[in-house]
Amino acid sequence: MNLLEIGIGGYNRAGQGGASLRMWKHFFPNAQIFGVDIEDKSFVDQDRITTFIGDQSDPASLTSIAEKIGTLDVIIDDGSHRSPHVITTFETLFPLLRDGGIYAVEDTQSSYWPEWMGSEDLNAPNTSMGLLKRLTDGLNYEEFVTEDYEPSYTDLNIVGMHFYHNLVIIEKGKNAEGSNKKNALKARYGKA
Ligand SMILES: C[S@@+](CC[C@H](N)C(=O)[O-])C[C@H]1O[C@@H](n2cnc3c(N)ncnc32)[C@H](O)[C@@H]1O
Repeated sequence: MNLLEIGIGGYNRAGQGGASLRMWKHFFPNAQIFGVDIEDKSFVDQDRITTFIGDQSDPASLTSIAEKIGTLDVIIDDGSHRSPHVITTFETLFPLLRDGGIYAVEDTQSSYWPEWMGSEDLNAPNTSMGLLKRLTDGLNYEEFVTEDYEPSYTDLNIVGMHFYHNLVIIEKGKNAEGSNKKNALKARYGKA
C-alpha cells in the first residue's frame, strides 16, 4: 500500500521533522510511505520512506507528486492547516485516491480560527469544516427529493465520514445503496 502524508514536520528548522512518517512505517510494515512538505525534508528519506518538496496550495505540485507515487491508498493532510489549502488539497487529491481508500484531515480546529484563514461563522462554506460538513449531506444524496438533482463526484464516491475532536476520516467507495423514498413518500411519488 502507498500512504501519502502532507506535512512532514519541523517547518524550516534544519534536521527536524519526519516523526509521523517513521510512525506510519512502523505501523504499516508492507507500505511505502511518502511525505510532502513545502520545505526540503530529504534527510528523512530511508528504506520505504520517500519525501517530496511540494506546496499543498498548488494543485499542479500535488498532481505531479501523485503521478510519481502511483496508486494512493491512504492520504493524510497534516500540512499548513489553512482552510483554502485543505480544500485545494482535498479537491486535487481525493479524486486520485483509490476506491476503498482513506483520506484523513488532521487539526481541523484551525477551521474556526480567522487568524489561520478559518472563520468564527460555523456555517461559513469556505472553511475546511464547512466543506467536511457539506460532504456528510452527500452521503445521503439518494434521499434528496429535489427533482433532477445531479450527484457530485463526492456524493458518488464517499461511503463514510468519521468526525472526531480535530480529526476527520473519509472513506472512499461507491455510494449507491439505493433509497426507500418512493415507498415512504407515496404522496410525492405515487405507487411504487
Ligand atoms: C504540523 S507539521 C507536520 C507534522 C508531522 N505530520 C508529524 O505529525 O510529525 C506541518 C508541516 O507542514 C508544512 N507545510 C506548511 N505549509 C505547507 C504547504 N503549503 N504545503 C506543504 N507543506 C506545508 C510545514 O513546513 C510543516 O513541516
